Amino acid sequence: MTTPPGSAGLPIVGDKSLEFYKDAIGFVDRNIAHNKSRIFLSRLLSKPTVFVSSNKGVKELLEDKAMNCDLGYKAFMYEIYGDNILFTDGINSVVLREILHNLFSAESVASYQESIQRLTSRALEDLHSRSPVNVYKFFKRLTTEICLSVFLDIDFQTAQELSSQICELTTTHWHGIISVPVSIKMPMMSSFTYGKALEAKAQLLKIIQDKLKDTTTSGFPQKIQNARFPHANLAHNHLLLFTSALVPKALASLLTSFVIAVKKDDFDKANCGSTFLDCLLLEVQRLYPPFVAGRRLVRKDCVVDGYKLHKGQAAMYMTRQAQRDPQAFTKPEEFLPQRWINAEKDERKKLFCFGAGPRCCIGQNFIWNILRTITQSLLRKYTWNIPEGQDLSFKWLPVSRPSHDVLANFVERS
Ligand code: HEM
Repeated sequence: MTTPPGSAGLPIVGDKSLEFYKDAIGFVDRNIAHNKSRIFLSRLLSKPTVFVSSNKGVKELLEDKAMNCDLGYKAFMYEIYGDNILFTDGINSVVLREILHNLFSAESVASYQESIQRLTSRALEDLHSRSPVNVYKFFKRLTTEICLSVFLDIDFQTAQELSSQICELTTTHWHGIISVPVSIKMPMMSSFTYGKALEAKAQLLKIIQDKLKDTTTSGFPQKIQNARFPHANLAHNHLLLFTSALVPKALASLLTSFVIAVKKDDFDKANCGSTFLDCLLLEVQRLYPPFVAGRRLVRKDCVVDGYKLHKGQAAMYMTRQAQRDPQAFTKPEEFLPQRWINAEKDERKKLFCFGAGPRCCIGQNFIWNILRTITQSLLRKYTWNIPEGQDLSFKWLPVSRPSHDVLANFVERS
């Protein structure tokens, strides 16, 4: 057992936060090549940080059987979101997970399906007449509508003023997250943006509280209101998290990657049955996870994929690189949906798009339903093409997204 190669450098001057923030994937790829290892040491957010980008390493870190690690998001997201499960560890996180699980049980998720299907059908109705379509923008709007409709029982069509107010507020709130690393470079600008984000948070919480007080509200708001959170503000803060820009951005990212990756040959196969559609969705998750990385704080010395991690260090697990690890997948860089057709069940355990282990994503079934509903409806009604000559590169943090508008032409099936 050895310590990871690389160096944590000196505090401040050795910090690589800006380099990582500018191009997370490039930074990690360069370090993998330089250290000749998918696990290496560097310094991020002022902490010695072990980067874990082997598939085996990420699996071990996330499954965390000996409870060696805490979640590492509090340092830069706590103020923007307030108390919620992402900033909770130990027994308190177990209690919160149980409460939240009930909100996303199979029965609950099934009850959200009607809204998902209705809003999807409405949005896809005339896509061909709006072509070329700005794909990411289109999916972000549709998934925002779905999230607001399910989580806050708000209909974009009948409550137009309120929905645009919420959309504006969630955008300003979101800028608080992206302004955090900028504060290292331009403190003045960032503190202004950050202050505005906190104001937006207060206004969003007020809307959420009013919604929960409204006795005519049903569905998810009623369920979360009745859930037995240890404090009432935990229900509000979780609704803030679920209705924030984070979820629609992640969904729009996956759906945009789907439209780019799925080619002519796959259209008819996917339209014939849900099995091949699932293979396409799994392969999109593998190659294009919206969250390219996640963070842990090491509480106890431990070993990950043969390397020693020390108490007090942070660990960045690199989802995107781990899902492209040649030790885990053959032809890892190629989009090969057929690899999932007869795959053993354990193969799926090599995917970390929704995390893994005791802190895996609670919204997975709900998200899977949204992705399946939208992509299935899209394939039933249309074929599409991406006009050539577009820059299809992506930015990585905090949620991966296209660097430039991606336009697609949708053609109605005869
Ligand atoms: C495409 C959309 C989404 C993606 C890609 C995604 C991905 C993830 C990932 C990777 C984690 C694990 C974080 C870690 O362990 O470091 C996570 C955790 C979590 N997700 Fe999601 N998520 C999505 C949507 C949702 C939705 C819609 C909800 C609920 C409304 C949700 C609720 C949660 C919660 C509560 C946790 C924290 C669990 C814990 O701390 O124990 N997610 N998600």
